[in-house]
Amino acid sequence: MLADAIDRKTSLPRPLRVLMVAAELAPLARSGGLGDVIHGLSCALGAIGVEVVIVTPYYGVTSLEGVPEPKPWNRPLWTPIGGDVRDVGVLETTLADDVRVCLLDCPALFRRNGIYRDENGDFGDNDMRFALLSSSALRVAEAIWEGPPDVLHAHDWHGALAVAYARLSDIAEWRNAVSVFTVHNLAFQGSFPLQRAAALGVPETALHNEALKQDDALNLLKGGIVYADRVTTVSPTYAREIITQRLGCGLDTALQSRSSRLFGIVNGIDTESWDPARDRAIAARYDAHDPSGRIACKLALEAELGLDPGGNAPLLGVVSRLIPQKGIDMLVDIIPSLVDDGARLAIVALGNPELERRIQDACSKWPDRVAFRPVFGDPIARRVYAGADMFIMPSRFEPCGLGQQYAMRYGAIPVATAVGGLADTIEQVDEASQKGTGFLFKDVTPSGLHDAISRASQARNKPALWARLIRNGMLRDASWDQSARRYFAIYRELAGAPPRPSLPPPPPVGVSET
Ligand code: GLC
Repeated sequence: MLADAIDRKTSLPRPLRVLMVAAELAPLARSGGLGDVIHGLSCALGAIGVEVVIVTPYYGVTSLEGVPEPKPWNRPLWTPIGGDVRDVGVLETTLADDVRVCLLDCPALFRRNGIYRDENGDFGDNDMRFALLSSSALRVAEAIWEGPPDVLHAHDWHGALAVAYARLSDIAEWRNAVSVFTVHNLAFQGSFPLQRAAALGVPETALHNEALKQDDALNLLKGGIVYADRVTTVSPTYAREIITQRLGCGLDTALQSRSSRLFGIVNGIDTESWDPARDRAIAARYDAHDPSGRIACKLALEAELGLDPGGNAPLLGVVSRLIPQKGIDMLVDIIPSLVDDGARLAIVALGNPELERRIQDACSKWPDRVAFRPVFGDPIARRVYAGADMFIMPSRFEPCGLGQQYAMRYGAIPVATAVGGLADTIEQVDEASQKGTGFLFKDVTPSGLHDAISRASQARNKPALWARLIRNGMLRDASWDQSARRYFAIYRELAGAPPRPSLPPPPPVGVSET
């Protein structure tokens, strides 16, 4: 039914075709939020009638659990790259019944024990690996639709060359193809020596500062930014931040000059998979109307982690990556005073070995107060969201952030910096009106974080207020539907359909918001 409605709206004789190009896709292969977003956005677009095909590599770490058994295509793709042609197999499966997923099978480049790196660090041929993803994606479109999709939607530096290859193609149809490029994190740019350009099939004419060159290097992310018809990022605040020198990671000028084509659309979350009323990974199920199951979840989490329940002591949860962006070092700095205040800490995070060691030290010192699990994500993450009183997210910058959204949905109150998507998804608590969903702070220092945790602790001493905040967060609409419709509005405007979107496209960053 929805598909019909959309066909009428786009005035296309068929559903809009979107080709997603991305390095990660949950639940098959993910290392962070990117994989979750590709899954959630694609399924939400599928649900409103868009024909979505996702192209992503088939890694050695790709898990096929929970998706229909993939079927191999009977012919491989012949993917041209820099004068060479690679033979790439395709395994096809689906998500949510109607989203097609094409897994690129090139054992020499993809079947490894990691997405971007293994225990020896980043793979030395990541440029070629993701150039192959990008070039093969265009071949997939040709195999399925005999030409470009209505919209080529590439993500992060790994998919950026798909946009550049299309724009620089010898084939007019591809040169004119409509493209959207989404930046999930400007800090990762895919920067390689200029000498690699020829091997990757990037022509010399594209090696200048208005194209793929940046600071005397080949910068793949920049290719996506300069060649795409629209650039989006994953929250409106981050879209405004990245055109400033402070957070522009060297690309602020390139982004600023395109600010009339730059949009911020906040990420949703998969509210079916992340639902405390149905989640089998947590000790008890509950919902916004009766969140009492959280008590059992907190006790179970404390028992699992060997923490002393300590009466009514607040349990602070962290699910993160130990990289400077996430600011967990600031939390580690204040562990002694938090312990002094009576708090318990449950930290699930992986990354910087020095920071891991500092957290381990704190665990040895206060084994029943501080617990650390150096793992990534599920399923223990779910138990932290369900059992923690507060969720600590002191990011120095945050394009969108999903952890705070999962936390709110599970009733843990976020304490977070007022940056990027955190500022857009968390509503500052106002005690008088009992509105708000979390505690945002602007002083991005250990003491700023400590003050914010103290504010949250004081609110927690007012049970009626606290119960209300839990409820506010749990009832917040975090679903993909609205955001998918905003992407859809951009697609449709670009694909030449009449501009009658069910939701207007968000205002570009270059135009002041009303
Ligand atoms: C990156 C960003 C994060 C965002 C995610 C998905 O991991 O750091 O803020 O939520 O991409 O867009």
